[in-house]
Amino acid sequence: MPQAAYAHFKLKLDPFTTLSLRPQNLEHFIGRELLIDRVSSALFSLSNVGLAGEPGVGKSSLMRMIQSQVPSQFYWAAIGVPRDDAAYFLSELLREMLVIIPKVKGLDLKAIGRRLEKEGLSKNEVFSLIRSIVRKLDKPLLVFVDDLEKIKDDRIRHLSRSERTLQVLEEIKTLFELPNISFAISLQEEFYGKVQSVVQENGDPTVLGLFRHIVLVEKFSMAELKGLLQRRLQKAGYTGTADQFFEPEALILGLALCNGNPRRFLYLLSEGMFRGYRRKAARVEFQDVFEALNEHLKLDNVCRKLLYFLAKSGRAVASNSDLQAYMGLDMISIARRFDVLAKNRLAEMVEVVNGSKVYALPGSKTPEENKAPLSVVKVTRNLAGEKVFNLFEPEDN
Ligand SMILES: Nc1ncnc2c1ncn2[C@@H]1O[C@H](COP(=O)(O)OP(=O)(O)O)[C@@H](O)[C@H]1O
Ligand SMILES: [Mg+2]
Repeated sequence: MPQAAYAHFKLKLDPFTTLSLRPQNLEHFIGRELLIDRVSSALFSLSNVGLAGEPGVGKSSLMRMIQSQVPSQFYWAAIGVPRDDAAYFLSELLREMLVIIPKVKGLDLKAIGRRLEKEGLSKNEVFSLIRSIVRKLDKPLLVFVDDLEKIKDDRIRHLSRSERTLQVLEEIKTLFELPNISFAISLQEEFYGKVQSVVQENGDPTVLGLFRHIVLVEKFSMAELKGLLQRRLQKAGYTGTADQFFEPEALILGLALCNGNPRRFLYLLSEGMFRGYRRKAARVEFQDVFEALNEHLKLDNVCRKLLYFLAKSGRAVASNSDLQAYMGLDMISIARRFDVLAKNRLAEMVEVVNGSKVYALPGSKTPEENKAPLSVVKVTRNLAGEKVFNLFEPEDN
């Protein structure tokens, strides 16, 4: 986004960057107190921990936060593992250990480093070097492994991505069993379910049994996302509130459609802000976020109109005759489109009234609010004879 866009909205820097939080901007971190507690107490008692969650939900940021709180009676190292290759994993770990561990009694770490870089050590050789170092450490080592779920290599083509990750974990299982070292590893969300079942059956059929402490990094609530936004704007030098920066309806749309995922939320707002800037608007409005959204969703015209209607009215039923008149479609076709929106998590069914399903933006309202009367659409014709669509809030009727 051009610098001029920030200047236009009186910001000193980009409030919506979707990059994971780094040590220098951890003050942007919000919430997650219980998760931090659970992960660090498991890790500090030298149990392996898996962090599961969908992409963009905040696993990397959470790891960084925990790293910043590691007490000095531990060593800690962070590695990224972008390949499904156990040998690569092991050498990355050894390399990092050699960086953070100053010295070990009876071992020449420099010589080990030279061997690692020059000799093309085998997987087993690297493993025994790691083991010999770990055995003699004066304090335990915590290892953070991020983005194991992003493995791209397809060394073993017929396996799915999560099967490949599992394969790597299997290959380095002995590493997780070493004393004096423990791992925090980010994993795909589906591992969460798998591990739960392993633990329930009380068996240990796979390496997942070693991750008895697996935590699900959950989606953000709408209130948390709003808090995150407020914090971001403030840190970027904005002096007003989130509601002054965004038209409230724009914010509702962003909150509803990001489905609790902070990366998606920030991305949508950033795109919306860019459109607001191009219009030279005083604040980011509904149309900006809506357009940004449509560019990415590529919804057909009917779905787009329905989504617009939902976002503006709050709730809608296919059998609403005003809606049918506005859409120029019968109830059945509208119901079908609502279904499409719901399948894409762009709308959700909130209740059934007289046999008709009532839809709203996902999660945008509490169940109580969803009991409020439906907004009514009035379709009139203007002087040119075109249909005009007006929304009336319940109190207007
Ligand atoms: N607890 C948090 N507080 C504030 N911002 C967060 C938090 N967790 C994640 N974010 C933001 O959400 C986005 C995605 O987070 P990230 O840690 O990269 O997710 P993941 O690693 O799960 O893909 C980043 O922009 C990050 O700054
Ligand atoms: Mg990440």
